[in-house]
Amino acid sequence: MKKPVVLRRSGSQRMRAGAGQTMKKKLIVLIVLVCIVSSRAQAPMDTLIFSHRLHSEVEAGCSVCHAQADSSLQPSDNLLPEMETCCGCHDRETACTLCHSNPDHAGGYARSLRYIARFPHSRHRSEKITCVSCHQGIETKEKSGGRHLPSMESCRQCHQDLEKPDFCCDCHAKVENLRPADHGPDWRKGHGMIQTADKDSCSLCHGVNQCLPCHQQNRLDH
Ligand code: HEC
Ligand code: HEC
Ligand code: HEC
Ligand code: HEC
Ligand code: HEC
Ligand code: HEC
Ligand code: HEC
Ligand code: HEC
Repeated sequence: MKKPVVLRRSGSQRMRAGAGQTMKKKLIVLIVLVCIVSSRAQAPMDTLIFSHRLHSEVEAGCSVCHAQADSSLQPSDNLLPEMETCCGCHDRETACTLCHSNPDHAGGYARSLRYIARFPHSRHRSEKITCVSCHQGIETKEKSGGRHLPSMESCRQCHQDLEKPDFCCDCHAKVENLRPADHGPDWRKGHGMIQTADKDSCSLCHGVNQCLPCHQQNRLDH
C-alpha cells in the first residue's frame, strides 16, 4: 500500500486520493490534477500594484474605494474596489502594468476571509470611530496584501457586557472553540500563577462573577 497522497491547492482546498491497485481511475485523475496544479504554479501570478500611503496623500477618503463598507452587514461581503473604481481617476488607456505586475493573469485579490463570524460595518458608523481606528496603520501601507484588521481588545471599548449570556457569540460562531490554548488539563491548578503575573490577562474574556463560584467573596486569595 502506498501512503495517501495529499495535494495542496491554494492552501485551503485540499484533495485526498488513495492510490491503490484498484484505483487506476483515481490515479489518472490525480496525475491530471498534479499537471493542473504545477502548470498554475508556473504561471507568474498577478499582484496588484497599489499603495494606501500614496493614495492617502492624494486625500482620497476611504469611501472613494470602499463605498460598500457603509452598507455592509456581513464580514464575508467583498469590500475591495473593482478596476472601474480606479478608472475614476486613472486613464483606462494607461499601461496595464501601472497596476498589474502581470496583466495576462489579472484578477483575484487575496482576501482576508474567515476572520470573524459576525461583523456589520454598517452599524459601526459614528463620530466615536473612524475607519482607521479599526484598520490601524493602513494609511502607511506601501504595497497591496497584508492584513490590517482589528484585535478583540479594540472591540472592548464598546462591547463589554461580559455577564451577558452568550456574549461571545455576538461576534463568534457558536461552533468555534474559544478555549485558549493555555487552558490545558492542568489549568484549574495553574491559572492562579498566570493571573498573578499579569493581572489584566483574564478580563478580556472573564467577568469577576465567573471566578466567584470557586473563590469566595470578591477576593481571589480564597
Ligand atoms: C481619487 C483618485 C484616485 C483613485 C480613485 C485611484 N487613484 Fe491611483 N493615484 C491617484 C493620484 C493622484 C496618484 C499620484 C499620481 C502621481 O503622483 O504621479 C495615483 C498614483 C497611483 C499609482 C502610482 C503611479 C506611479 O506613477 O507610481 C498607482 C500604481 C495607482 N495610483 C493605482 C491605483 C489603483 C490600483 C486604484 C484603484 C484601486 C487607484 N489608483 C485609484 C489618484 C487616484
Ligand atoms: C489604475 C489601475 C489599473 C490599471 C491601469 C489596470 N487595471 Fe486591471 N484591475 C485593477 C484592479 C484594482 C482590479 C481588481 C483586482 C482584482 O480583481 O484582483 C483589476 C482587475 C482586472 C482584471 C480581472 C477582473 C476584471 O475586472 O475583469 C483584468 C482581466 C484586468 N484588470 C485587466 C487589465 C488590463 C488588460 C489592463 C490594461 C488595459 C488593466 N487591467 C489596467 C486595476 C487596474
Ligand atoms: C469597529 C471596527 C471597524 C471599523 C470602524 C471599520 N472596519 Fe473595516 N473591518 C473590520 C473587521 C473586523 C474586518 C474583517 C471582517 C472579516 O473579513 O471577517 C474588516 C474588513 C474590512 C475590509 C476588507 C474586506 C474584504 O473584502 O476583504 C475593508 C476594505 C474594510 N474593512 C474597510 C473599512 C472602511 C472603509 C471603514 C470605514 C468606513 C471600515 N472598514 C471601518 C472592522 C472595522
Ligand atoms: C484609491 C483606492 C483606495 C483608497 C482611497 C483606500 N483603499 Fe483600502 N484598499 C484598496 C485596494 C486596491 C485594496 C486591495 C489591495 C490591498 O490590499 O492593498 C484595499 C484593501 C484594504 C483593506 C484590506 C487589506 C488589509 O490590509 O487589511 C482594508 C482593511 C482597507 N483597504 C481599508 C482602507 C481604509 C481604512 C482606507 C482609508 C484610510 C482605505 N482603505 C483607502 C484601495 C483603496
Ligand atoms: C465605538 C464603539 C464600538 C466599537 C469599537 C465596536 N462596536 Fe460593534 N457595535 C457598536 C454598536 C453601538 C452596536 C449596535 C448597533 C445597532 O444596534 O445597530 C454594535 C453592534 C455590533 C454587532 C452586531 C451585534 C448584534 O446584536 O447583532 C457586532 C457583531 C459587532 N458590533 C462587532 C464588533 C466587533 C467585532 C468589533 C471590534 C472589531 C466592534 N464591534 C467594535 C459599537 C462598537
Ligand atoms: C465584539 C466582538 C467580540 C466579542 C463579543 C468576543 N470576541 Fe473574541 N475576537 C474578536 C475579534 C475581532 C478577534 C480577532 C480575530 C482574529 O484574530 O482572528 C477575536 C479573537 C478571539 C480569539 C483568538 C482567536 C484566534 O484564533 O487567535 C479567542 C480565543 C476569542 N476571541 C475568544 C473570545 C471569547 C471567549 C469571548 C467571550 C468571552 C469573545 N471572544 C468575545 C471579537 C470578539
Ligand atoms: C473551577 C473553579 C475555579 C474558578 C472558576 C476559578 N478558580 Fe482560581 N483557583 C481555583 C483553585 C482550585 C485554585 C488553587 C490552585 C492550587 O493552588 O492548587 C485557584 C487559584 C487561583 C489563584 C492563586 C491564588 C492562590 O492563593 O493560590 C488566583 C490568582 C486565581 N485562582 C484567580 C482566578 C481568577 C481571576 C478566576 C476567574 C477568571 C478564577 N481564578 C476562577 C479554582 C478556580
Ligand atoms: C481569550 C479568552 C480567555 C482568556 C483571555 C482567559 N480565558 Fe479562561 N476560559 C475561556 C473559555 C472560553 C473558557 C471555557 C468556558 C466554558 O467552557 O464554559 C475558560 C475557562 C476558564 C476556567 C474554568 C476552568 C475549566 O477548566 O473549565 C477558569 C478557572 C479560567 N478560564 C480562568 C482564567 C484565568 C485565571 C485567566 C487569566 C489568567 C483566563 N481564564 C483567561 C476563555 C478565556
